[in-house]
Amino acid sequence: MADQTTIVVATNNQGKLKEFALLLPSFHIISQSSLGIIPEEELGETFFENSLQKARVASTASGMLSLGDDSGLIVPALNNLPGLRSARYAHENATDEENRQHLKKELEKLELNQAKAYFVSVLVLMQAPADPFPLFATGLLEGFVKTTMQGDNGFGYDPMFYPKDSNVSLGEIGPDEKALLSHRGKAIQILTRKIESFTSE
Ligand code: IMP
Repeated sequence: MADQTTIVVATNNQGKLKEFALLLPSFHIISQSSLGIIPEEELGETFFENSLQKARVASTASGMLSLGDDSGLIVPALNNLPGLRSARYAHENATDEENRQHLKKELEKLELNQAKAYFVSVLVLMQAPADPFPLFATGLLEGFVKTTMQGDNGFGYDPMFYPKDSNVSLGEIGPDEKALLSHRGKAIQILTRKIESFTSE
């Protein structure tokens, strides 16, 4: 690989960055914003397209090993929203708190205080902008979203997401525990195995 020690993560989301630094301890993780890279508007209709676009933008601008993560929360009872719009569910520049309150309101409109939901993460690792074989990995975490919010760990929808068979929300567990079970943690495990088999060929 061009640069095995540093990975540019194509995000400005501090919550995601902290998780990647924890999940990829053998790499030096830097954010695209630290290199002055401006993200492009997400045009894809799937998490796959958006993740590839993010990785390509970061790779083109940096010339370095670049990782795209497109992730989100899917609630089937809400027609799969927030989905691709997870980061801007309440409005274009919404904060995590505004997005959570919007989701709470949408659930309440349906007179639900909880609904099945799942988090997804699609990762794309590109060695160079013209890399013909980017590495892909996906992860999924099933559970429920509830209108009762608990804990302030993590980021995004964590305080209202309760993994299947768990009484506590992602906002109530620590970063190491979240890393073991989360959509991002699972995707990273797959990606790491792919990197290892790629570099040992
Ligand atoms: P992206 O940066 O376009 O991939 O948007 C991801 C959005 O999905 C975040 O801003 C959060 O709202 C939500 N999200 C993704 N992963 C998580 C997670 O692990 N916990 C909580 N919210 C998440």
